[in-house]
Amino acid sequence: MDLVLVGLPGSGKSAVGRRLAGRHNATFVDLDELIEQQVGKPVPAIFAEEGEAGFRRHELEAVRSLGPADTHPELRRVIATGGGTVIDPRNRWLLYRGRFPVWLDGAPEVLAGRLNRSANVRPLVSGRDAVPTLRRLAADRRRFYAPALQISGAANVEATLRTLEGRLGDGPSPEATVLRADTAIGHVEIGYGMAASAVGSALTRGEARRAILLAEPRTWDVAGAGIAAALEAEGWQVERILLPRGERAKRMRVIEDTCRALARLHVDRRETLVAIGGGALTDAAGFAAATYLRGVAVVHVPTTLVGQIDAALGGKTAVDIPEGKNLVGAFHQPAAFIADVSFNATLPARQRRAALGEVVKMAVLGDERLLALVEQEGVAFARGDSRPIETGAVAEMVERCVWAKVEVVTADAREANVRMTLNLGHTIGHGIEAAAGYKAILHGEAVAYGLRGAFAIARALGITTAERAERVNSLLDRLGLAVAPPVVSLDSVGQHMATDKKHALGRLSWVLPTEIGVVIRSDVPPEAVAQGLAAALRIAEAGVR
Ligand SMILES: NC(=O)c1ccc[n+]([C@@H]2O[C@H](COP(=O)([O-])OP(=O)(O)OC[C@H]3O[C@@H](n4cnc5c(N)ncnc54)[C@H](O)[C@@H]3O)[C@@H](O)[C@H]2O)c1
Repeated sequence: MDLVLVGLPGSGKSAVGRRLAGRHNATFVDLDELIEQQVGKPVPAIFAEEGEAGFRRHELEAVRSLGPADTHPELRRVIATGGGTVIDPRNRWLLYRGRFPVWLDGAPEVLAGRLNRSANVRPLVSGRDAVPTLRRLAADRRRFYAPALQISGAANVEATLRTLEGRLGDGPSPEATVLRADTAIGHVEIGYGMAASAVGSALTRGEARRAILLAEPRTWDVAGAGIAAALEAEGWQVERILLPRGERAKRMRVIEDTCRALARLHVDRRETLVAIGGGALTDAAGFAAATYLRGVAVVHVPTTLVGQIDAALGGKTAVDIPEGKNLVGAFHQPAAFIADVSFNATLPARQRRAALGEVVKMAVLGDERLLALVEQEGVAFARGDSRPIETGAVAEMVERCVWAKVEVVTADAREANVRMTLNLGHTIGHGIEAAAGYKAILHGEAVAYGLRGAFAIARALGITTAERAERVNSLLDRLGLAVAPPVVSLDSVGQHMATDKKHALGRLSWVLPTEIGVVIRSDVPPEAVAQGLAAALRIAEAGVR
């Protein structure tokens, strides 16, 4: 097996790694030394000549050059990473999957003392006051180190080695967690094949006495049954409640049935529900959790890409009534959000494609790496190819969207407009969705139409470039999103937008793309709106209907 050491500068990765490898007759790989060999320059020279971005490129190459994980049960290779190696989701996917990651943790004061005594130059820490710098790095990077086995507080190399050797039997696992964080909107975990163990840990944290799983028939088959079996094997008593599939779960009658099932199971206030399914299931089960006994804890395990990047995160729950979709709901933050990207493998093509409409929106908000990622991998994923799931591309998409949402929702307490930026593409998108009666068009598909409209408006107002609009529109073309005119009339879309405007007290605020992000404008003239609608509805192609 390969053991991977991660942690801040000064945590002893090289010293511990070298001694551990020596004692077990394993090969020691120091990633910084490997980079120096491959580039032919010392690390400080790479930083000086190519900047941090240049160094990170070489670092990714070095991680890739490690090749596949060693599957031999004995310790064969010890890899000491640089302090910042695991910031890049690609490195984490390669280093954590099939390998045994270990986090050497320590107090910033202790690490700073070691760094001051060391002859090595650390480009990101040298020349500054090390303790505050290390404290800031620790806060920024904790979520990247936290999936690894944590060894903290060891007094010296020998003590660390003894603890580590006692845990070698844990070994690598077939599952991988690439991000773990406690956030203002709940505990967040992202990974591959880790849903059952993450649910078990969440239940243990919540001091649950049993596992109450809520799913729908399809998500029970593709995810729930496996989670239940794994929990039972761990000794959990498992209860199961099935809701109807898809949007039919989001009805008041279903909430009543669900709450009655909970009451028959004598579920009390201290228990935790586990919602396993797409956005419809987590919306409905989340609403039941918000209201049963005036609120019980819920763990969300989204099984669709829409759920993993959006619906199950942020605490909004809702059901539909005949008068409108999502009209009844509550805010109820999940105790934990567990995104296991392996569930996307069985997702129908249309669901995959529609979800990418939301991912493109998140990228246009200002994540250039996400935009490039969808450009490279989106078409294959939409087609049903499982490679982007296996290579970590989907995990990176999920992580980027999730973390952007965590930051937006956290910032929102101070800055009301920030959360609103998430509505990019939604003004026209909602109009189209509503005009189609929320049936013929999926939400992500509607957002894609709305994105085309928002770009047309931004062009008309001169706030984005033709190149930027062309780049995003051609990506939507290649993904097969918002390509054909939607089956709705311009009039009815306009009417639904007018209703939204009334709800917004007459001021429709538009989130519009610039060249690198978005701006909010409430002064968009009617001619520009007309151009946006024409572009969204593909009216030039279809003729006015
Ligand atoms: N609360 C929020 O903030 C929020 C945000 C966005 C969307 N939503 C809501 O989410 C819902 C849409 O979510 P969705 O797109 O996940 O739809 P969904 O939950 O209806 O699931 C779509 C279909 O995929 C199936 N499915 C789910 N997981 C699967 C898997 N792993 N493999 C195979 N099939 C699977 C389901 O059975 C269903 O037929 C809407 O009701 C929307 O209002 C809520």
